Amino acid sequence: MTTKRYVWQPTTAEIAERFDIDRDRVVRFDQNTSPDPTDWTAPFVPPDLRDLNEYPAASYRPLRESAARYVGVRPEEVVPGAGIDELIILAARAFLPPGGRARGYTPTYPLYQIATEQQGATFEGLSGAPPGSSHSSDLTWICAPNNPTGDRLPDVTIERIITSSPGIVVLDAAYAEFTNDRWGSWIDRFDSLLVLHTLSKGFGLAGIRVGYAIGNSELIDAIDRVRPPGSISTVSNTLAIAALSNPDRMRRSVEGLIVERERLADRLTELGLDVAPSEANFLLAHVGPEAQALAASLMREGLVVREFPHIPELIDYLRFTVRSPTDDDRLVNTIERIRS
Ligand SMILES: Cc1ncc(COP(=O)(O)O)c(C=O)c1O
Repeated sequence: MTTKRYVWQPTTAEIAERFDIDRDRVVRFDQNTSPDPTDWTAPFVPPDLRDLNEYPAASYRPLRESAARYVGVRPEEVVPGAGIDELIILAARAFLPPGGRARGYTPTYPLYQIATEQQGATFEGLSGAPPGSSHSSDLTWICAPNNPTGDRLPDVTIERIITSSPGIVVLDAAYAEFTNDRWGSWIDRFDSLLVLHTLSKGFGLAGIRVGYAIGNSELIDAIDRVRPPGSISTVSNTLAIAALSNPDRMRRSVEGLIVERERLADRLTELGLDVAPSEANFLLAHVGPEAQALAASLMREGLVVREFPHIPELIDYLRFTVRSPTDDDRLVNTIERIRS
């Protein structure tokens, strides 16, 4: 069977070389990462890197404790991974038997389908309103807020999906910091719920590749059994603990990005784009049949946006990560110039 592959835009170095642009002029509006610099991290990285000849302690106990304190659960209810992406692969491995069935509410984050199919299971994409009745499935993927649409299903809908799902429900909360969601009490109420968190989005640390899952201790144990022993480096581990132990820095950054998101949405709307309301750090806009051409023109100027040539219902859309006011103004002004 040929399974789907995740497709990325070219790297910054590739774009700089292909279009002869200074690397510093290439801006990523396609990856939903934070524009805020991470110079604050320097004091937390061991200066002499003395311990890096040793493996990190595979239990990652201090990291579990920091994450548990931050989300308000017990350390036994946390398992870390190299970003949510690794945890998605591990959840599929742990909960999907070969020939099993998973479902998700499409359009959504493509890795759910990819991880499902890599496991030899089938993925059913449900579009429109989530069902109230149960389909047979071993695993249901929910993304809240959803990438790429930016909306967040209401609590009552999420609750209905969980209570009507026969198998495990994996809720990807990558953008939870932007909605101030607290899923800790949900894992107490629902034994079948596993919630995935990351340091990549609100915390602005996509480069360190750290995420964690929360759920009842049986689900956590099931992930622990299939995870690699040391996929989080010592440096990443140290930085993740520092970030989780001081969430105020993250909160300030998120508050600023939410203000900037609304400003960017207004500016894009003024240009005539149909911008969907967003609860995350990106905006999905209906551009029209010229969406791909606009994305290509923007890339030639070093502005990388997310296009969806392989998703029929999103073919006329582009997704823009919210960045700094200066970068966002450059984006809007360039779109205006290209379209005039
Ligand atoms: C919904 C969703 N889940 C997971 C990820 C990847 O998260 P991580 O960097 O923790 O692997 C992303 C990144 O864009 C995302 O949008």
